[in-house]
Amino acid sequence: MQTIVVTGGAGFIGSNFLSKYVLLFPEIKFVNIDALTYAGNIEKISPEARKASNYSFEQADICDIEDMRSIYRKYQPTDVIHFAAESHVDNSIRNPRLFTEVNTLGTNILLDLHREFKMNRFHYISTDEIYGDIPESGFFTEETPIAPSSPYSASKAGGDILTQAYGRTFGVNYTITRCSNNYGANQNFINLIPLFISKIQKDEKVPLYGDGSNIRDWLYVEDHCDAIWEVFTRAEKSSIYNVGGNNEYANLEITQILLEAMGKWEDLISFVPDRPGHDKRYAIDATKIKNELGWTPKVKFEEGIVRTVKSYNV
Ligand SMILES: NC(=O)c1ccc[n+]([C@@H]2O[C@H](COP(=O)([O-])OP(=O)(O)OC[C@H]3O[C@@H](n4cnc5c(N)ncnc54)[C@H](O)[C@@H]3O)[C@@H](O)[C@H]2O)c1
Repeated sequence: MQTIVVTGGAGFIGSNFLSKYVLLFPEIKFVNIDALTYAGNIEKISPEARKASNYSFEQADICDIEDMRSIYRKYQPTDVIHFAAESHVDNSIRNPRLFTEVNTLGTNILLDLHREFKMNRFHYISTDEIYGDIPESGFFTEETPIAPSSPYSASKAGGDILTQAYGRTFGVNYTITRCSNNYGANQNFINLIPLFISKIQKDEKVPLYGDGSNIRDWLYVEDHCDAIWEVFTRAEKSSIYNVGGNNEYANLEITQILLEAMGKWEDLISFVPDRPGHDKRYAIDATKIKNELGWTPKVKFEEGIVRTVKSYNV
């Protein structure tokens, strides 16, 4: 039986992934390993998926190799989809070392276990932030040099290049996806869209960094999960794919869209001092995944944002 370890499955993207794929593939066993940090909550996964006989949960820290080894002994997994990470840039500015430990060293530990248990595919969820920013025009391709700006993106780049090195040196069968900003249900309330929705709901000021001109490419989380599955199941060994939503918006525009969707006024916007090292613009060229695997995002931003606002009970 194929048994996939899913790390970080109680987080935003991992929970959306498990809610769908556990039910879609009852013949595959999914073992969710999550430390349940502030960002993890098992109830983000749908009750149907949590109750399914092909789903198991183990609470563990990916940095604790002994705990991880005993979980691997118990389940004898065949593959890994690695979501677990410290994921919030502001937190990485406050505590860079935690990010290096979890995102780089934690990935290193999983790669060592992968070799030890002679497993098949190792899929690493990376981010477009490893490319740094691209202030004016142009797009990140998979060939763009890695030049991270924040401790978060540097620690994710560490996991990304270690995964590639384990492929080259030890023959680990890896794939990597580098995606843009996700939005949708289950995201933690420290992130821009859920934070702003909750504040707007209570008629509180929304704190917008700088002048709000920083641009992000937004990808609906369910589209991202489908892209991961396509790459994990169909891509060649050692391949890397950018995953983007084709939805570039300035943070100010996102705020205006949310205010309009919730019937509130722009006087709720409060500009606050910018984040140090704040990347100006991210923009993804996702041509490779479209041409080679036929994946394109299905959910239009106008539809995705309405679904997202509703999911936070507005
Ligand atoms: N959210 C985005 O927009 C985005 C964009 C690009 C890439 N990514 C990447 O996707 C992945 C998932 O992101 P997310 O937004 O769902 O993050 P999240 O912060 O919502 O979830 C992370 C999960 O990992 C768990 N975790 C953290 N440290 C752990 C540890 N030491 N051991 C085991 N579990 C641990 C947390 O408990 C949580 O459930 C991350 O690798 C992130 O870098 C996210």
